[in-house]
Amino acid sequence: KVYNIILSGGVGSRLWPLSRKQHPKQFLKLFSGKSLFELTAERNQEVVDQIMVVGNTDHIEWSKMLLQDISLPKTFITETVARNTTAAIAFAALAVDADDVLIVTPSDHLIQNQDAYEKAIREAIELAKKDFLVTFGVVPSKPETGYGYIEYQGKDVLSFREKPNTETAQEFLERGTFLWNSGMFCFKAGVLLEELKVYQSELLDKCKAVWQISVDQCLNAEASEKVPSISIDYAVMERSKKIKVVPAHFRWNDLGSFESLYDYLRSTGHPVDKNGNMVIGTEIFTAFVGLSNSILVHTPDAILILQKEKSQDVKKIYNQLEKYQ
Ligand code: GDD
Ligand code: MG
Repeated sequence: KVYNIILSGGVGSRLWPLSRKQHPKQFLKLFSGKSLFELTAERNQEVVDQIMVVGNTDHIEWSKMLLQDISLPKTFITETVARNTTAAIAFAALAVDADDVLIVTPSDHLIQNQDAYEKAIREAIELAKKDFLVTFGVVPSKPETGYGYIEYQGKDVLSFREKPNTETAQEFLERGTFLWNSGMFCFKAGVLLEELKVYQSELLDKCKAVWQISVDQCLNAEASEKVPSISIDYAVMERSKKIKVVPAHFRWNDLGSFESLYDYLRSTGHPVDKNGNMVIGTEIFTAFVGLSNSILVHTPDAILILQKEKSQDVKKIYNQLEKYQ
């Protein structure tokens, strides 16, 4: 069987104040009346047999409601505490058969060109059946520090580097032998578990311990606290020797930060003043003096003003803002 594992546990802290703990960005109906979460499931429904959502208990009813028009079988693994993507993916892998193929997708991407997307997924499934861990590579357009970089030769992966600093990202861009990691993955559940055994055995053991005492795919909170929090990119992709890359010939936008949201909105004709300043979330006339490439984000109870280049730092502010999270 082929599963679409939808990772929906992030709080979207880099998109605060649009995204909140109780209203994470993937559920906001920002795109022609649909949420990125719904669009994710819709895009995969032709290529998979079943959908499995891994996300927070607080949002599970919401997820179910949003997916009600999708006729595929659906299962939900619920987390009370988020322990990052390695754990979330490990739980999905433990829930299915070793030979099942998982197409792991974030829930916050905007992808256009469905035919090219399906073609890439089908290609990845074939490689996954041969026991590879498949990534999807996007041609980079700027020295973005929020992404992973894949050094490639054809479909072979020579190295993987998660979130490099600006200098290194610039160097990768100039060398021209790197692709961005799209954040989607495809592999057999059993192959991923084998790699975790090699590179993250403590994490795997702790995930198994959680899984054993969890009821109805609702993960035990106390045991989950003990699972190390690390993303799959650092935990496995930077280390595994079994990685392949399929080129993404579809339009891909990660709307994970204000910089990417800015680029996307700008491409759709959202107004920007002559110094590149943008307002999001209000029609109130706004003037910027002495500022360039700034973004003002307006919500009923919180306003954020930032320099576009500092988009990755919104996470830091978020962590200090208990009341408004
Ligand atoms: N269930 C669950 N539990 N989901 C999680 C958790 C968790 O603890 N943590 C994160 N997620 C989900 C997020 O909601 C998102 O859909 C996805 O996993 C990826 O997490 P992000 O936090 O958005 O990762 P990132 O954007 O920093 O980096 C990843 O994506 C980039 C492209 O968008 C990496 O894979 C990079 O290499 C990649 O370039
Ligand atoms: Mg992201």
